[in-house]
Amino acid sequence: MGIESEKWILMVTARTPTNIAVIKYWGKRDETLILPINDSISLTLDPTHLSTTTTVSVSPTFHQDRMWLNGKEISLQGGRFQSCLREIRARAQDVQDKKKGIDIKKEDWQKLHLHIASYNNFPTAAGLASSAAGLACLVFSLAKLMNLKEDNSQLSAIARQGSGSACRSLYGGFVKWVMGKEDNGSDSLAVQLADEKHWDELVIIIAVVSARQKETSSTSGMRDTVETSALIQHRAKEVVPKRIVQMEDAIQNRDFPSFARLACTDSNQFHAVCLDTYPPIFYMNDTSHRIISCVEKWNRAEGAPQVAYTFDAGPNAVMIARNRKTAALLLQRLLYNFPPESDTDLGRVNNFI
Ligand code: DP6
Repeated sequence: MGIESEKWILMVTARTPTNIAVIKYWGKRDETLILPINDSISLTLDPTHLSTTTTVSVSPTFHQDRMWLNGKEISLQGGRFQSCLREIRARAQDVQDKKKGIDIKKEDWQKLHLHIASYNNFPTAAGLASSAAGLACLVFSLAKLMNLKEDNSQLSAIARQGSGSACRSLYGGFVKWVMGKEDNGSDSLAVQLADEKHWDELVIIIAVVSARQKETSSTSGMRDTVETSALIQHRAKEVVPKRIVQMEDAIQNRDFPSFARLACTDSNQFHAVCLDTYPPIFYMNDTSHRIISCVEKWNRAEGAPQVAYTFDAGPNAVMIARNRKTAALLLQRLLYNFPPESDTDLGRVNNFI
């Protein structure tokens, strides 16, 4: 009797937080393998706030690979999902559970099918639905299910093929995605610079400026930038390598003024290369610009940075306060400058903070 006639089910559940880049990834040198044109650095959020929880299961009774996101079935046919599944299956090992009568041989994984259920603990409509947490969680949970021997850094190179920024979510704390040199991408992976306890005074506040889906996806936006911007090569070759070294030092020394200056200027430069793309890409809006002015004015008035800001491919502001006291003052300032409309449910708003 082959494994196909058995009736068991084996499951693994994992949770992965999203990450926010403070030195941005923008531009690929290989679209299929997802290899970037520069290194990037991010911080991984606390999983209680913005994270994805994924349950993966395998059973001989499943007839095809299927996936559900927030309860709704989605297609697994895309090239990126297929790359991740192929890479993980190729590294799968034997799995045994004597009590349940499960005995899966390496080669069985090629014919066994998977069911994958993924949930985001934040509203997808809020425009914060980064693919980073989702793809990292998918790769991590499948690696556990199939008993892979690879470490998190090697797994990050698989998650990278699902979405570039996902590779940085395999670790907590501060993470660097090393761009690598090899054509096959084997050295383009994430390394942890410092764990989550290293600088745990920092508080992240996310201001949801618009809940609308972004107009230009990161994937197509960065493709257009690489093809048309005259500034992007200067950024990748001259600016980012120096900033990476300075950012690593700032993190190691918990040097908030340097950290804030680098994060803010790098976010601004990322949006500058978007503007230098033809046709131009506008991710920030007037409210985003007002938030920047508000933080810049405050930092200047204090004589030293209190808060850093960074914006990804959308108008929502991610602000990093140097400690809890500053975070409370920041919230006061934000509520004063951007008073909520009278029908806003503050209980829900609070979930983002
Ligand atoms: C602005 O990782 O979403 O958030 O690799 O094409 O899936 P793909 O792009 P994605 O791009 C993220 C871009 C960014 C900056 C960053 O996270 O470093």
